[in-house]
Amino acid sequence: MCGIVGYTGPRQASRILVEGLKRLEYRGYDSAGIAVPKDATQDEGKTLVVIKKKGKIAELRKAVPKDLPGNFGIGHTRWATHGGVTDANAHPHVDSSGKIAIVHNGIIENYIPLKEMLEKEGAIFRSETDSEVIAHLVAYHYDGDLETALKAALRHLKGTYGIAAVHADEPGRIVGARNGSPLVLGVGDGEMLLASDVTALLTYTTSVVYLNDGEVVSMTPTEFRISDRDDRAVDPEIDLVTWKLDAIEKGGFSTYMEKEIFEQPESIERALTGRMDFEYCSAKLGGLDMSKKELHAIERIRVIAAGTSWHAGLVGCQLMESVARLPGQAELASELRYRNPVVEPNSLYIAASQSGETADTLYAMREIQRRGGSVLGICNVVGSTIARESDGGIYVHSGPEIAVASTKAFTSQLAAFYLLTLSLARLHDMSHHEGERFLTDLKAIPAAVRRSLLLRDSIQEIAKRYARFGDFLFLGRGLLYPIALEGALKLKEISYIHAEGYASGEIKHGPIALISPDTPSVFLVPNDHLREKTISNMKEIKARGGPIIALAEEGDELVASIADDYIPLPKVDTRFQPFVMMPPLQLFAYFCALELGRDIDQPRNLAKSVTVE
Ligand code: F6R
Repeated sequence: MCGIVGYTGPRQASRILVEGLKRLEYRGYDSAGIAVPKDATQDEGKTLVVIKKKGKIAELRKAVPKDLPGNFGIGHTRWATHGGVTDANAHPHVDSSGKIAIVHNGIIENYIPLKEMLEKEGAIFRSETDSEVIAHLVAYHYDGDLETALKAALRHLKGTYGIAAVHADEPGRIVGARNGSPLVLGVGDGEMLLASDVTALLTYTTSVVYLNDGEVVSMTPTEFRISDRDDRAVDPEIDLVTWKLDAIEKGGFSTYMEKEIFEQPESIERALTGRMDFEYCSAKLGGLDMSKKELHAIERIRVIAAGTSWHAGLVGCQLMESVARLPGQAELASELRYRNPVVEPNSLYIAASQSGETADTLYAMREIQRRGGSVLGICNVVGSTIARESDGGIYVHSGPEIAVASTKAFTSQLAAFYLLTLSLARLHDMSHHEGERFLTDLKAIPAAVRRSLLLRDSIQEIAKRYARFGDFLFLGRGLLYPIALEGALKLKEISYIHAEGYASGEIKHGPIALISPDTPSVFLVPNDHLREKTISNMKEIKARGGPIIALAEEGDELVASIADDYIPLPKVDTRFQPFVMMPPLQLFAYFCALELGRDIDQPRNLAKSVTVE
C-alpha cells in the first residue's frame, strides 16, 4: 500500500529518495515525505531535515530544495489508514528530539496504549497516525545504537510493519525491519538501498535481498547485517532481479495502463514460453514441485484471491471443471480467512496474486497451510511473500505492472490457469489429440490478442459516446461471466462510473429493473451453445429501451443488428474467448476514463498491492 525507500551512499540522498518514491507512487499516493541529515556530510549529520507534503510526489518534489545536502535518508509515499490526509500525518515521523525518523508500512494495532504510555514519559506526538509511536518507542529505548533500540521497540508492537529508521547521530546508517509488509535491500557498489519493492531500486542495482518476516537489517554504504529479533545473524541470500529498467518506464505511451494493455500479446507469450509441451501435449510447470502421482491424486481445486486475481481464478475454476473435470471453486480470500474453512484432503489450493503481497490472500494462504493444506502460488512478482511462502507455484512473468488497475497480469494469470488445467486434464480424461488441439489454440492466443487490440480506435469512438452515462451493466455467461465482472471492475475503478457485472441469465431475476435508456448494457456474447440464450437476453434489454454494446465474434450479423454498437472480435475457440474479450473491455474502461479526465494510473482511493486487511 504505502511505499518505503531508503538510501545510503555517496550520492545526494534527497534526489534518489524522491525518484524512488516516484517509482513507488503506484503503491499509495495521498502524501509523501523524506528525512535526510541536515548537514552536508555524513560526519556532521547531527540533525534531520524532514519534508512532508500532502498530495502526489510532484508536490513533494516542488518542496525539496534541489541542492538539499546529505547522503543518507528515508522516504515514504502514503495510503492513509489511521489519520486523515495531511502534511502532519505524512511520513517520516520523528521522535520528540527530532533526531530519529521512521517510515512505516502496515498497521500498529496496539498504538493507543503505547501512545498513552509514551506521552506519560514526555513524548510529544504531532500526528494522528499509528506509525508515530514507533519513532517515540525507538527514542525511548535509544542508548547509542539504533539497531538495538529498534529491536527493543519491535517487542512492543502488535500488527504489521515494514519500517525504515535513521538517527541523526548515526550518519550513513539505516535500520529496517519487516513483519508482514515487504522490504527489500538493494546491494549496490559502495551504496545500499532499502525499499518496499524492487522498482525503486532498479536504477542503482539488480542485486537484492528480500527480508523475511521477523528480520531486521542494519546497513551502511558498504555493509549490511541481517538478524532476527533475538539478534541471531541470518545468512543473506542475494537474488538477481531480471526486470529491466525500461519495463518500469512508460515507453512512449501516455499512461502505464495503456502501455500495459498493449503489452499483453508479449506478456501472455512470456507466460506460455517454455511451458507448452507438444511432445506429450501437456504443460511443463516445473515450479509446481509436485510429482505426477501427487497431481493425479488431486480431486478438487480451490482458488483464493482478491479483486482481479479472483476473477482470473473464477475463469480458472470453470475451466478446470469443463476441461479437466475437476470441481473448482474460487473464493474471496478476505471471506475465506475468517470463515473457519474446511481444508479437504486431495484439494489443490491456489493463491492467485499479481503482487504476491495482498494481505487478505497471504493470510488466507497461511490459514490453509496451518490446517495442513498445500497452497500453490500464481504470482507475478518474483520473490514476493506469497511466492516464497507457497508450497510451489507458477510465475506469470507479465513484467512489472505499474498502473493500479491490473490488466496484463490478469491475462497472464489466465494463461497460467490454462496451462495448469491442461496439465491436470492430461492426467485424467483428455486425450493426446485433444491436448494437442488445446495447446495449438493456446499458442495462437497472443496473436489473437494482438488483433483484438487493433480495435483501439473504434473502441475509443464508442467510449466517447458512452462515457457520460452513470450506470452500466456488464453481462456474460459461462467463462465470460467472470470477464463481465472484470470489465465492470475496470470501468468503475478508473472512470468512477458505476458498473455491475452479472451473469446474463440473472438479469431477469432483478437487475432488469435498472434498464432504461440511461443504463447501457455491455454484452459479452459467447460463440457456443450459449450464444442464442445471450441474444434472447439482449432482446429483453432492447425491448425495454436499454442501449447495448455487444462484443461478439467477427461476422456475427445477428448480434450486430440487435446491438447499438458491435465490437467484432477475432475468432477463437469458445474456451479461449476470455483472452480476446478482455483487452477491448480494458480499452473501453480506459477511454471512458480518458474522456472524463480521470487520473488513470492512480485512481482515487486505490493503491496497488493491498498489504493491509
Ligand atoms: C484491480 C486490481 C485489484 C487486485 C487485488 C488483488 O484492477 O488490481 O482488484 O487484483 O487488489 O491484488 P493482487 O493480485 O496483487 O493480489
